[in-house]
Amino acid sequence: MSFPQSRPRRLRQSPKLRTLVQETALSAADFIYPLFVTHGKGIRKEIVSMPNTYQLSIDTLVKEAQEVRRLGIPAVILFGIPKKKDERGSEAYAPTGIIQQAVKAVKDRVPELVVITDVCLCEYTRHGHCGVVKEGRVLNDPTLELLAREAVSHAKAGADMVAPSDMMDGRVKAIRTALDRENFEMTPILSYAAKYASAFYGPFRDAAGSAPQFGDRKSYQMDPPNVREALREVALDIEEGADIVMVKPALAYLDVIHRVRSAFNVPVAAYQVSGEYAMIKAASRLKWLDEDRVIIETLTSIKRAGADLILTYFAKEAARLLQS
Ligand code: PBG
Repeated sequence: MSFPQSRPRRLRQSPKLRTLVQETALSAADFIYPLFVTHGKGIRKEIVSMPNTYQLSIDTLVKEAQEVRRLGIPAVILFGIPKKKDERGSEAYAPTGIIQQAVKAVKDRVPELVVITDVCLCEYTRHGHCGVVKEGRVLNDPTLELLAREAVSHAKAGADMVAPSDMMDGRVKAIRTALDRENFEMTPILSYAAKYASAFYGPFRDAAGSAPQFGDRKSYQMDPPNVREALREVALDIEEGADIVMVKPALAYLDVIHRVRSAFNVPVAAYQVSGEYAMIKAASRLKWLDEDRVIIETLTSIKRAGADLILTYFAKEAARLLQS
C-alpha cells in the first residue's frame, strides 16, 4: 500500500499515539554511573573538562552512591586515583589501595548498589600505560599477572563485578583463572572487549591523571576503522569467560554495538565516554544545543543500536529527566 492509503503520520499525530508505538524505552535501570575516587577527606573536586563530574574522597563517594541508589540507578563503576604512581602500578593491587577502600565503604553503606571496578594499570603507573613497560614497549604477558592480582584484590574488597579495560590479549582468561582459584568463581567479568584507540578519552585522562607519558595506546586498543576485528575480540573474550562484553566509545561506534548485539547472546554494554559527555556539555553551555533532549536522544540511540547497559556520566541527569 502506498500514499494516500499509507500515511505514517497517522501514528505521530499525538503524544499518546507516539508513546504507544515507541520501539525503544530508556530506563534508569539501564545505567552504570562512573565515579572517580581519590585519597583524602571532604573532597569534591570538579573535573574542568567534565562539568558536574567530580573526583571524590571516600566520604563524599558514599554520599554520591546513596543518591545514585535513590535515583534508581543500579550500578556504579569505580576508577581510582592513587597516592603515588610507580613503574608497576602497585597501588592497583594493594589491599589498602584507594579502590579497595572505596569498595568496602560503598558496599558497607549502600549494599544494594552493584559495585563494579575498572581493572587497569594506567591510572597507577608513572608512564601512564595500561601494562608493564620495557624499553618503550607495553608487554602483554607480564601484564596479565598484575591485572589478575588487581581483579582478585578488588573481589576480596567486596566488588560485585570486575571490568578489565586494558586490552591485553588473554586478560579475561588470566583474571577468570585467578578469581576461580581464590574462590571468586561467582564474580562476573564485564570485559571492555571492543575498546578503540579513541580521541574521545581526553577528558577522562584529565580526570584520572592517566594520559600516557610517551607514545599512545594504538598497539593495544583497537583501530577505529575496524569492525570485523571487534567481533573477533568479543568472541575471544566470551571464550575466555567474559559474562558481559562492552563496546567503547558509544556514539561513534553504534554500528559496532549493533553487530556485536546481533552476533552474540551475552549482555552488551556500551560506554558513552568522557569526550562524548564533554562535547554535549560544552555545546549546551554555549546554548548551541538543548542539553536535556540531546542526553535522552543519544542514550536512546545507544540502546536502539543494541546496548543492554550504558555506562554514562549522564546517568543521574538522565534518571531525573526520565522521572519527570
Ligand atoms: C582505562 C580507561 C580509560 C577509560 C576507561 N578506562 C582511558 C583510556 O583507555 O585511556 C576512558 C573512559 C572515558 O573516556 O570516559 N584504561
